[in-house]
Amino acid sequence: MMRDTASLLIEALPYIRQFSGKTIVIKYGGHAMKDEALKESFAKDVVLMKYIGIHPVVVHGGGPQIGRMLERVGKKSDFRAGMRVTDEDTMDVVEMVLAGKVNKEIVALINRHGGRAIGLSGKDGQLIEARKMHLYRYQGDDQPPEIIDIGLVGEVRRINVEILKVLEQSRVIPVIAPVGVGPDGETYNINADLVAGSVASALNAEKLLLMTDVPGVLDGAGQLISSMTVAEAADLMQDETLKGGMIPKVQCAIDAVQAGVRKVAIVDGRIPHSVLLELFTDSGIGTEIVGRRPRRDEGERTRG
Ligand SMILES: Nc1ncnc2c1ncn2[C@@H]1O[C@H](COP(=O)(O)OP(=O)(O)OP(=O)(O)O)[C@@H](O)[C@H]1O
Ligand SMILES: [Mg+2]
Repeated sequence: MMRDTASLLIEALPYIRQFSGKTIVIKYGGHAMKDEALKESFAKDVVLMKYIGIHPVVVHGGGPQIGRMLERVGKKSDFRAGMRVTDEDTMDVVEMVLAGKVNKEIVALINRHGGRAIGLSGKDGQLIEARKMHLYRYQGDDQPPEIIDIGLVGEVRRINVEILKVLEQSRVIPVIAPVGVGPDGETYNINADLVAGSVASALNAEKLLLMTDVPGVLDGAGQLISSMTVAEAADLMQDETLKGGMIPKVQCAIDAVQAGVRKVAIVDGRIPHSVLLELFTDSGIGTEIVGRRPRRDEGERTRG
């Protein structure tokens, strides 16, 4: 038992060396915020990262929490391509739940476990500049694409990293709510995976972790894909294997790798300490998305 503990710690050493001084962006929340024990293990993982010199940046979702609040106020939820159709009333609820309730809950959680977290929405420090997202559906070569209006759903135009850079040099762990601000001060609801991907790219992060409530990306037969290249991920996007919220997640993984983020992993947030297990063990967990498959002689970690 003692030997197991020692070998585990030693297994973590090369990863601690690799990540120390680097930025790691973690998309948390929504579906991964299941119960108290899991929330606690997540908070401890993030606090530990900061203590060993890694710069964690947390971006959170809040799908289930928004859904529950909309239900309470008697509004129906409607989704297109994994995005919530957002009218003005819905946007009010989304902002209140994300930037108010969920954001502060995560901040308090991290602080209760010995960290120093601070909450930001995309409006703070003009962190997330957004614009309206336009969705089109292909209708055949001889037809114009159908335009799907999903209202105040935004996409990231620019991430202003100054405030994050300042925090990197401090003890403070930023926790970001995915609410963006438009050129005329409009408020946009942005998918949290897309924000996490853009933040990771803008900060040139070493790694992007997307926590969710499934083992990772599942293939057509329901089997976990433990590793895939950007090209393989793009193929998956073409067929119907990916549905709902997994579509923006894999798209953001592809975009982040292409923008220079070394590795993206989609991990099961229902496993206690999934962040540490993904970062600090040889086998990792979940699905990793990499630029290309490393050659054997490069001695990089590959998954079996
Ligand atoms: N091929 C697939 N492999 C794995 N999950 C899939 C696949 N296709 C669709 N999904 C769905 O994607 C969901 C994850 O995305 P979803 O947006 O619902 O949650 P989240 O992003 O973790 O949380 P939130 O959106 O609240 O931040 C899974 O629960 C699963 O049902
Ligand atoms: Mg989602």
